[in-house]
Amino acid sequence: MTPEATQNLLTQGVKAVQARVSHFPKTVIVLGSGLGRFAAALEGTTTIPYGEIPGFSRSTVVGHSGNLVIGSMSGQRIAVMQGRIHAYEGHPGSAIAAPIRILRKLGAEQLILTNACGGLKQDMSPGSLVLIEDHINFTSFNPLIGPNDDSIGPRFPEMSDPYDAALRAKLRAAADEAGIELKKGVYIFVLGPNFETAAEIRMYAKFGADVVGMSTVPECLVARHCGMTVACVSIVTNHATGISIVPLTHEETLATAERAGQNLEQLLREFLQKI
Ligand code: HPA
Repeated sequence: MTPEATQNLLTQGVKAVQARVSHFPKTVIVLGSGLGRFAAALEGTTTIPYGEIPGFSRSTVVGHSGNLVIGSMSGQRIAVMQGRIHAYEGHPGSAIAAPIRILRKLGAEQLILTNACGGLKQDMSPGSLVLIEDHINFTSFNPLIGPNDDSIGPRFPEMSDPYDAALRAKLRAAADEAGIELKKGVYIFVLGPNFETAAEIRMYAKFGADVVGMSTVPECLVARHCGMTVACVSIVTNHATGISIVPLTHEETLATAERAGQNLEQLLREFLQKI
């Protein structure tokens, strides 16, 4: 797509949302696998199916519905992306970038990412919540590849602080207040869609990763590029291959994410009182 065609698409997306909500919230939460129910806890909601917003693509993965939900929680107006798309579905980087750039143009300033991931260490056990401190992009997938639109962000965005220190401190304080254990770790992004081999997992652990997943990093890159602050809380849904003695399934991922999702919902409720 040419930069002009991209700008055109983003403008259409912005208009479609503005036709439904007059003041767009500053905070957006992206819900990962199995966490879609969180949106039901919002009050006074406006729900816009992705199909009605130019630039938003539907996910083909079970556990990801496709709605932008705007509403209130803990007295704070927020927008929730209920469902996300992934590189392994065959979506190009531009399809992952467009929704975030549209939300930015609408006035969003902070992006809170959630995801389901595998734990590389014994103590990263199923159900653990992990505050992501940094990431490793272990793919050659990057949504910023291509001509750069300087009006959106710089050609060479720097990544010394991809996950904002102030937002992380607020999430930590929220976890302490809610009495929820929040571990910390480095997320390694793999393309998928297969789960990893045991040898790959041993290598990722040596590289300094604590958890592994197939999402989040592309969205973080796009959001940092366009000047948003980012935070991420991962739910460990399984021990990664080789750490776990049982073969991995997507069904197990969804079931654990739904269970641990209740803790994550409580954590986000507390967090929203602090921003
Ligand atoms: N690997 C990659 N992605 C994942 C995993 C995993 O073990 N669990 C949930 N998402």
